[in-house]
Amino acid sequence: MSDIAQYREFWPGTQPNYLHAPYVSSVRRSPTKPLVRAPHTLSEVTGPSWGVKDIVPGAYDLTKQHGGSPIGPRIVVSGRVTDENGRPQTHTLVEIWQANAAGRYLHRNDQGSAPLDPNFTGEGHTLTDEHGDYRFVTIRPGEYPWGNHHNAWRPAHIHFSLFGPAFATRLVTQMYFPGDPLLAYDPIFNCTADEDARNRLISQFDWATTLPGESLGYRFDIVLRGRDPTPMENAHKD
Ligand SMILES: [Fe+2]
Repeated sequence: MSDIAQYREFWPGTQPNYLHAPYVSSVRRSPTKPLVRAPHTLSEVTGPSWGVKDIVPGAYDLTKQHGGSPIGPRIVVSGRVTDENGRPQTHTLVEIWQANAAGRYLHRNDQGSAPLDPNFTGEGHTLTDEHGDYRFVTIRPGEYPWGNHHNAWRPAHIHFSLFGPAFATRLVTQMYFPGDPLLAYDPIFNCTADEDARNRLISQFDWATTLPGESLGYRFDIVLRGRDPTPMENAHKD
């Protein structure tokens, strides 16, 4: 047995299915053969570590990256990053990207009719603090049309990427907003079979984060993969 503590497999149903036919791109992207599980080696249980010097100061505030203020309702998004064992993931890199308030990305692949905002790029990053907490200031992204099927619209969402302590803990996900009527019709949101897991992708409106006279607050806690103890750690448990 390996001396290296293995990250656990995902709980069935809690991650998006590789193949979810209503999400049309998944048909071509998904593997056609069963996956082969390889034991984790040092390459998987270690990863890049990030320090304050890797972070652009102010990159957590997407409303102050240009000369003027972007159009759209200001929001604060914050939360705590832990692993499956409940341990805070400190000083870990959290990156976000999103559409502007009109539902348009500043990206060459987005040639939609909604206007770009010269004061909004839609990208930010930060490190979690010593408690595993992160915080972004941004604007509420707009819903946008996409080509998946006739009259398809994505619910409002913010893309997240987290590294965690190892390559095996990398997580790319999306955060949604409570009460969005488009969620029930969104093939990407509905890729995740387990209803509870799916609903954990929806942030919660949060008075504690809401700034009076300035911005509504949303809380979005994130759980990264956890490791099982090694045989040696098990032997020393008692
Ligand atoms: Fe998106």
